[in-house]
Amino acid sequence: MALVNIGVVGLGAAGRAFVPAILKHPGFRLAAVAEPVEATRAEMLTRHDASGYASVAAMLEHPGLDAVYIATPTDLHPGHVLLALAEGKHVLVEKPMAAELSQARAMVAAASAAGVVLLVGHSHSYDLPIKKMREIITGGTLGSVRMVNTWCFTDWMHRPRRIEELDASQGGGVTYRQGSHQFDIIRLLCGGMAKSVRAKTFDWDKKRSGIGAHVAYLDFVDGAAATAVYNGYGRFSSMDLGFDVSEWGLMQPPQDRPQRQHCASPEAELLAKQLRAKTAIPEGAPYQPFFGVTLVSCEGGDIRQSPKGLFVYSEEGRVEIELPTKCSPRDLVLAEFHDAITGAAPALHDGRWGLANLEVCAAAISSSASGQDVLLKEQIAAPSGMARV
Ligand SMILES: NC(=O)c1ccc[n+]([C@@H]2O[C@H](COP(=O)([O-])OP(=O)(O)OC[C@H]3O[C@@H](n4cnc5c(N)ncnc54)[C@H](O)[C@@H]3O)[C@@H](O)[C@H]2O)c1
Repeated sequence: MALVNIGVVGLGAAGRAFVPAILKHPGFRLAAVAEPVEATRAEMLTRHDASGYASVAAMLEHPGLDAVYIATPTDLHPGHVLLALAEGKHVLVEKPMAAELSQARAMVAAASAAGVVLLVGHSHSYDLPIKKMREIITGGTLGSVRMVNTWCFTDWMHRPRRIEELDASQGGGVTYRQGSHQFDIIRLLCGGMAKSVRAKTFDWDKKRSGIGAHVAYLDFVDGAAATAVYNGYGRFSSMDLGFDVSEWGLMQPPQDRPQRQHCASPEAELLAKQLRAKTAIPEGAPYQPFFGVTLVSCEGGDIRQSPKGLFVYSEEGRVEIELPTKCSPRDLVLAEFHDAITGAAPALHDGRWGLANLEVCAAAISSSASGQDVLLKEQIAAPSGMARV
């Protein structure tokens, strides 16, 4: 298997979570990390044999570096991605890929000009249950998909946050940060070609202002329709509707869920965030990840997640399909990245796909402001044949 030397940029919650997956994948070698906070960088380097840099620019000089994973704050993605693409590196960038469509378009154009891979991930459409839902839909046994409804209720707004993470103009708030998961899931399951979006976003905790909830309705060109509901204010958890299983596949009954308390100052909040980043995303889990509840309705039946995989409801009743838990969502991202780099298989979650997801996030916010439907122009179709799960 071709060995790809990869560097990780940004060692927060997202960046750290990819390190075990990189070490596990035989086609990647963790060559370098870039992180300006010295203590964070040093702690990572005591555990792993890689070179450390204080900036992306310095890391890009690392001899033999083939690819980079950008896990810096969203508002920094465009600058960091364009720098890496200009050096001819393959790039995996965290979602949302940017805060503005023009930045995402520039990233797509730069990757194409450089002839390298630009992938956007991780997002929860990489999760095995979602991939399996897509496989059942495209297999045709349940007929055409007509509705997808996805609900997620979390405490996202009350976790420790940097100020920019609550500012939509910097890619913050739940519509950019969490809608990017939901719209990706919906677009994959409904075939990708969304036609319009109507949405309402909410900012109802003035002590912690930012978009904290939304409800969005998506219309698709082939007649399918979907809704995405997200509430990040933390009173009700959609784990109560999902067998108590968390976003990362851990069993978390109500008494085991963390109680949030706001920090006294932005500095204290940053420290709390850095501390939380060490354990926020586990390396593996005994259950499938549950990003809220997603219910797919096809002409001949319905699909939703079960504790072990999926429940498929049809004329024959309810059948459970079990799915393996040996691969984490990040293992699946790296598999797609490696396949795209080596030419083994084209990427689904490429820059164009990420741009189309970002367009839905931006459209939801502008629809809420205008009270109108927003027509979409950047949508692309999902490939009909995907690797079998
Ligand atoms: N896919 C997921 O499940 C998931 C989960 C969390 C975050 N994210 C995404 O990952 C990105 C980062 O989020 P996070 O919560 O990990 O943020 P974070 O604040 O925890 O971490 C960001 C890290 O980047 C570092 N950094 C800041 N400026 C830098 C620079 N110029 N060069 C290199 N490093 C720099 C910071 O010091 C910090 O360690 C966001 O875009 C977010 O949407 C994705």
